[in-house]
Amino acid sequence: MSDNTVTVRRAVAADEAALLEIELTAWDATSGFPSLTAGDRTTFFAERYGPDAFLVAELAGRLVGYIRLQDKYPFPEGAGVLSINGLAVAPEARGQGIGSVLMDAVTAEAKRRGARKITLHVHGVNTVARRLYERHGYVVEGTHPREFLIDGQYVDAVDLALFL
Ligand SMILES: CC(C)(COP(=O)(O)OP(=O)(O)OC[C@H]1O[C@@H](n2cnc3c(N)ncnc32)[C@H](O)[C@@H]1OP(=O)(O)O)[C@@H](O)C(=O)NCCC(=O)NCCS
Repeated sequence: MSDNTVTVRRAVAADEAALLEIELTAWDATSGFPSLTAGDRTTFFAERYGPDAFLVAELAGRLVGYIRLQDKYPFPEGAGVLSINGLAVAPEARGQGIGSVLMDAVTAEAKRRGARKITLHVHGVNTVARRLYERHGYVVEGTHPREFLIDGQYVDAVDLALFL
């Protein structure tokens, strides 16, 4: 019998290799920036976003997804506003609700921190992610038309927010 249990935990330094593997396969032109996720990337964590910034999902004990949640502003007037700066599930693990579990976990974490709002950006063409965010209560705050030129196509950037 297969074990379909999904668990979420905070990332640790030892997750580096598994997270890098997801990072190199999860993104495409509809979801990310091909120049940033090119195959020659060799590290996942960075100084601005170490393991503390990530929650990871495991399916039957295997790391299959991550979400990055950070303070949006480094000054007190913006306290309480968090930002999701990345959500990805390994291609072979999609469509099983893992993205949804990660979104729930981030909402719970934000509430625990006393946050009042979570924001994120999504490409206008990323319909799968947009549906997921909408299902979790995110609303459109604004659109930046033709913000990026990706593989020869202009792509809108959409700002979404969840008010807690
Ligand atoms: C967006 C993403 C995180 C969703 O992860 P997920 O674990 O597949 O999410 P869920 O299973 O909770 O929901 C995915 C939706 O796709 C559907 N789906 C079904 N089978 C699927 C499959 N094989 N592959 C992808 N989606 C599938 C799900 O039913 C659900 O549909 P719905 O929104 O109409 O209900 C994932 O597609 C991903 O990593 N995409 C690339 C990175 C990205 O776009 N990140 C967000 C950037 S802002």
